[in-house]
Amino acid sequence: MLQHIAIIMDGNGRWAQARGLSRSQGHEAGSRQISVIAKAAAELGVKILTLYAFSTENWKRPAAEVNFLMGLISRYSDERLSEMQENGVRLRCMGRIDQLPALVRRSVHKTMQATAGNSRLILNIALNYGGRAEIVDAVNAILQEPRRAGRISEADFQRYLYAPELPDPELLIRTGGELRISNFLLWQLSYSEIYVSDKCWPDFGKEELLAALAEYESRSRRYGGL
Ligand code: IPE
Ligand code: IPE
Ligand code: MG
Repeated sequence: MLQHIAIIMDGNGRWAQARGLSRSQGHEAGSRQISVIAKAAAELGVKILTLYAFSTENWKRPAAEVNFLMGLISRYSDERLSEMQENGVRLRCMGRIDQLPALVRRSVHKTMQATAGNSRLILNIALNYGGRAEIVDAVNAILQEPRRAGRISEADFQRYLYAPELPDPELLIRTGGELRISNFLLWQLSYSEIYVSDKCWPDFGKEELLAALAEYESRSRRYGGL
């Protein structure tokens, strides 16, 4: 089984609109799907699931939607703690976490600490995450080093990213049908296989995950070789 799957959880709004529901109801349904996919991934033996929950660009949305999403993330982190413990899930976050509302920071820190001993699945949530921000933050961290070597290698650079301990995702899944990466994991996706599902995130279940994995198995990964 592959180690690391990254997912751009897109299409909550369209899912809701198609059903005459509010965008908030779409996000609510999307948050429930996180548990479904985390459980399925853990059962399949996937070790790391990185989920794009809020991008550095998502602040452009109306304040009411941003506030709803912040509350939802905080609530998810609080309410799903016992479920994470039962399923051996360890919560991890990546992004500019210090810029998030205190409520969100408190909830995720509490759940990260409480689940720190779990090892079946790492649930890595990209929160206020941008691929360019991550690269710029890494460069600034390098510039802060007191005794800096003249040149750095790719492996050195990798150590300054938000999650240096995680291997690159073998597979990127995007739901909602758009063919772009929207500033997600720019460094880490360099050789990931990409799978786009037309299903909106609230409709992306275990069956769709299995279809993505089957497609992955059929790919020939050449890494520039033959
Ligand atoms: C993804 O769903 C969730 C976030 C970006 C937080 P969207 O809200 O982008 O849903 P669509 O793309 O408008 O359907
Ligand atoms: C990407 O979805 C970000 C998340 C899923 C958190 P968006 O809906 O923000 O992406 P664009 O605007 O279609 O590129
Ligand atoms: Mg979208």
